[in-house]
Amino acid sequence: MTGTVPQDLHDRTAVVTGAAGGIGEVYAAALLARGARVVLTDVDEPGVRAAAARLTSDASRLLAVAADVTDEESVRALVAQATTTFGGVDVLVNNAALHLGEWSAGVALPAARWRRILDVNVVGPLVCATACRASMAARGGGVVVNQSSSAAYLAAAGAYSVSKAALNGLTAVLARELAPDGIRVNGIAPGFVASPAAVAHVLPANRDRAVAAQLLPVDGQMSHLVGALLYLVSDASAFVTGQTISVDGGAVRRA
Ligand SMILES: NC(=O)c1ccc[n+]([C@@H]2O[C@H](COP(=O)([O-])OP(=O)(O)OC[C@H]3O[C@@H](n4cnc5c(N)ncnc54)[C@H](O)[C@@H]3O)[C@@H](O)[C@H]2O)c1
Repeated sequence: MTGTVPQDLHDRTAVVTGAAGGIGEVYAAALLARGARVVLTDVDEPGVRAAAARLTSDASRLLAVAADVTDEESVRALVAQATTTFGGVDVLVNNAALHLGEWSAGVALPAARWRRILDVNVVGPLVCATACRASMAARGGGVVVNQSSSAAYLAAAGAYSVSKAALNGLTAVLARELAPDGIRVNGIAPGFVASPAAVAHVLPANRDRAVAAQLLPVDGQMSHLVGALLYLVSDASAFVTGQTISVDGGAVRRA
């Protein structure tokens, strides 16, 4: 990928999964603001259409498509639609996930539910990256960003923690396997950020505990994640691949 202004994304098309609201919508807004064309997708069809209407009325820059990231057929159709509409895909943001509520259980979660969360949170990003690979390669390269979580390192959220730790492993494996096609693969591991879903599910006392565990005594906001996303999708990170960056106020520290 070329370009002299690191965060000018005018020549890029980005697919953002899990974009019916929350962090996915904030990521899509940030990419649109830097000039990218964006394909918003989510399993929640009315939700993704409503998010698209909130973001822009400019159909030349935004496409909303319902798709389940675990369904290879529907993801292939999504990439085909992105290619017909915008010419191809340069950036994939794997943001869709199951989280909160039952998904924070470990041994109490039935095996079928473990399979489901691993399917959505780990296999889904693999399916999406695989579906975008040929288009990115044909355009001279691309970028994949996997949305992880500090839960991957803290192991405090049962199956969800395991799924995000596995996603970090997938980031490293995909970085190695897709590098020959010029595709960089990195991740973002947020701490608690006040998305509508997180605010609805996390008790204020638990939020306070999360802030107390950080080095920076700041309430995490969705906007805190945007700098890392723009860095990873732009040429500013041209020499970075296979990494998951913590954006969590210093909650997780590795020497
Ligand atoms: N909010 C936080 O504090 C926080 C912290 C760390 C990581 N994260 C991660 O950030 C991402 C977004 O979180 P959010 O807080 O905005 O939550 P959210 O629930 O609003 O977003 C997740 C989206 O994924 C979609 N989705 C679920 N299953 C899907 C499937 N099979 N196919 C397609 N879409 C599917 C949902 O419909 C939803 O719109 C998730 O990956 C989450 O794990 C969030």
